[in-house]
Amino acid sequence: MLMREKVAFITGAAGEVGQALIKQLAARRKGRILSLDLRPLPPELDALVTHVQGSILDKTLLERLVTEYEMEEIYHLAALLSTRAEFSPNAAHRVNVTGTMTLLELAAEQSEWRKEPVRFMFPSSIAAFGLPDLRTKLDYAHVREWEWNTPRTMYGCNKLYCEMLGQYFSNHYRQLAAEQPVMLDFRSVRFPGLISAFTVPSGGTSDYGPEMLHAAAQGKPYACFVREDVRIPFMAMPDAVKALLDLAAAPRESLRRQVYNVTSFSLSAAEFREYVLRYFPEAQITFQPDVRRQSIVDSWPADLDDSAARRDWGWKPDYDVERAFADYLVPNISKRYQNAAQPA
Ligand code: SER
Repeated sequence: MLMREKVAFITGAAGEVGQALIKQLAARRKGRILSLDLRPLPPELDALVTHVQGSILDKTLLERLVTEYEMEEIYHLAALLSTRAEFSPNAAHRVNVTGTMTLLELAAEQSEWRKEPVRFMFPSSIAAFGLPDLRTKLDYAHVREWEWNTPRTMYGCNKLYCEMLGQYFSNHYRQLAAEQPVMLDFRSVRFPGLISAFTVPSGGTSDYGPEMLHAAAQGKPYACFVREDVRIPFMAMPDAVKALLDLAAAPRESLRRQVYNVTSFSLSAAEFREYVLRYFPEAQITFQPDVRRQSIVDSWPADLDDSAARRDWGWKPDYDVERAFADYLVPNISKRYQNAAQPA
């Protein structure tokens, strides 16, 4: 019988989380990693995976990949982030919802076929929450998973719905069929704003944090698009990858939920600026709030309660705010732009 090669499959692999995940997963995993993105990967990552340039909406392409590879686990990262999604809600729905549905169907079929659940890892977001006003945001400082599931962005609606779809596919899919299928194993983390030293985000609304820092490291002035007092949680990228990998590795019976909050530190935009200034004292950071983007961030929680993740699968970030800046962000960002500044 023709055997297909077992792989871990990453969609959205050229994005911020994808690039960081590839490095870590390649270090841990013996077998092949198959990756998919509309864009090519940077050359240093291309060597670590088998990369396919294409769309998650291309069913013919996905069908072809399934004939060649057995997907043991899927990291479905492809998405349009919150700011971009507001400008093209229809495209966001296609990528974020139809794309996820397509991948879930593929994983469901594969689970049945191999008589073993495909693990489906899905990054969700603080955008799945929506607090109605600033007073409520102050009153509910540490939001639990089930509170304020009333997102006010297209992206947040998409993420929340796909969390539900994922749980449907892993618990109730084909519930009226004569024979119960082997269902997939869906697991999700709700990330706060992520900050990478190696990449800059595009199209998100928590982007002011990383943008401030990357601008400072390049000696460029930066006008922050939210008010100084705006507070949301953040996380350094290595911890985001660790959260995905740790949740993926957790024994299924220890998980009492399928969607978990994870967080690391919470900062106001003014505090974020203070940290940047500590390391880049010359940085020129001003505040010029954009009322509309501002109101999106105002609807996101000031902090997340991630005690369920800590309890069920031992979640603990490696980087608090001090370590994130001192040991990860500042050294790597400085190196990155120094190297870039040197003549070839
Ligand atoms: N960082 C994301 C965004 O700003 C939130 O998940 O859209």
